[in-house]
Amino acid sequence: MVYYLKNSHFLGLLVLLVFWSCKSDKKEDQSSSEKEYVMYQPSEMAVLMQEFYDYNEQLKKEITSGNELTHMPETFKAIQTAEMTDSADPSKIFKAYAPVYLQTQLRVTDSLNTEDLKTRFNDNINICLSCHKTECVGPIPRIKKLLIQ
Ligand code: HEC
Repeated sequence: MVYYLKNSHFLGLLVLLVFWSCKSDKKEDQSSSEKEYVMYQPSEMAVLMQEFYDYNEQLKKEITSGNELTHMPETFKAIQTAEMTDSADPSKIFKAYAPVYLQTQLRVTDSLNTEDLKTRFNDNINICLSCHKTECVGPIPRIKKLLIQ
């Protein structure tokens, strides 16, 4: 279906995807002018999630090209404290997945682990997806692209 869209429409679609926020259906800012829209500040959690995404995109490249793996930045541990959009409290499900995620993320670069590297990488991305299925469905199509086929 995307193939029938003109380039400009496709760009618009991308912009929409990039600015997806899980709480974006809240009505409070509907009257916002274009200026306010430009000044939209992503939450700490949203910024952190983008870093998760970029890091795993980098890891995927390193794995598929056989290069040395970059270790997880310590700052990722902030998943347990970062502020969410609209200062929402993390749900029980979120709190349960966060430490599991940190473990599976660290396993990818654990040089003592003998399990297949691609399996470990995809297991980790599947934890992202598991949490997202209940906590934030918007980015799921993007996250799926990280999986190594
Ligand atoms: C513990 C649950 C959980 C895990 C694990 C998780 N996410 Fe998220 N993710 C969320 C929540 C909740 C949000 C919405 C944050 C907000 O709006 O403040 C989010 C938002 C995002 C966003 C959108 C950020 C934006 O710009 O609004 C992306 C992209 C994302 N996550 C990618 C990932 C990737 C990639 C992984 C794994 C490497 C991952 N997430 C792991 C719960 C999770």
